[in-house]
Amino acid sequence: MIKTEIIRVNPEAPDGEALAQAAAILRQGGLVAFPTETVYGLGAVIYNRTSVQKIFTVKGRPGDNPLIVHIYREEQLHELARETSATALILARRFWPGPLTMILPKKEGIPAEVSAGLPTVAVRWPSHPVARELLRQTDRPVAAPSANLSGRPSPTRGSHVIADLDGKVEMIIDAGPTGVGVESTVLDLTSARPRILRPGGVTREMLEAVLGEGSVDAPEQVKTDRPLAPGMKYRHYAPQAPIHFMAGAPASIHRFLQGRIEEARQAGKKIGILAYDEDRSAVPSLPEVEFLSLGRRTNPAEGAERLFHLLRLCDQVGVEEIYAVAPPRTGVGEAVYNRLFKAAGGKVEEIK
Ligand code: TXA
Ligand code: MG
Repeated sequence: MIKTEIIRVNPEAPDGEALAQAAAILRQGGLVAFPTETVYGLGAVIYNRTSVQKIFTVKGRPGDNPLIVHIYREEQLHELARETSATALILARRFWPGPLTMILPKKEGIPAEVSAGLPTVAVRWPSHPVARELLRQTDRPVAAPSANLSGRPSPTRGSHVIADLDGKVEMIIDAGPTGVGVESTVLDLTSARPRILRPGGVTREMLEAVLGEGSVDAPEQVKTDRPLAPGMKYRHYAPQAPIHFMAGAPASIHRFLQGRIEEARQAGKKIGILAYDEDRSAVPSLPEVEFLSLGRRTNPAEGAERLFHLLRLCDQVGVEEIYAVAPPRTGVGEAVYNRLFKAAGGKVEEIK
């Protein structure tokens, strides 16, 4: 255990002095958890090899899972990437700062720990005012995975980070809810065609609006047995209770749920139902049933913002089983679908 300094910062007008202190900790080799517009990150300066190694130990993260390097201006891209294609520059100028991570050939001098021995580096310029000011004051590239213990849902509130990392890192900056709520889009630019390794806040539609329709591959289009983003092969985002991930017409799902609710009532066991406001009327209020709203089905951004918070809530209220409705796979709904699919152990149940 170490003493973790927890500071609260206004997300709109971050206190420069507080962040100067955080930047000093990073430069001296400490670990600082900070908000980004997607999820909270656990940062270390990339050139401090022992600090980067500490990120893996603290999180319990497998050593073969590389980290994303965070920057605050475009020139830093050239410090990290051996080549920046025209496509990379176009995307950087269109989507940075923002929730897009680009995989590029890495420059020599980037410690192997950062990229887990791969010849590539993941780079992202976050848009959250606190992250930007912290990176500016640190003035070094900062490696930062999501600030959760490995396997747990990513943190989207300061309280999530405190629950996972208090006593393990030098500082936690709490600036409230993050906003987007799911992690950045990871886009591989090292092969012939750009391919999405992890869907996120910058959607395929948004990328193709810039690069041309049909020009971006989704993970399922890439034929390989090798996991692309090493992180995507591990069980992830998972609360303690098992998740049943259900796809199908709302009416069929509602009928299916009636059966599960009746079973829970008879067994006196508590279940969680992760669904949309539009589904609420199909779920009776009973002590055995916890209805967790992903917001409106018509607005996938609401579900993205709440998803990880609700998954953590499932543990807190002690549900024994979770039934999650598949989100529409449009916009950021694709990322929500992807995270729930992973949380359910890579299975989706077709409800007829
Ligand atoms: O929104 C985000 O991206 C957040 C915030 C903190 O920036 N960070 C984040 O980091 O989600 P992490 O470590 O939880 O996820 C990084 C993902 C993993 O799936 C990892 O395998 C992949 O990016 N990745 C990192 N470097 C890579 C590389 N060189 N090649 C392929 N995948 C890479
Ligand atoms: Mg993560």
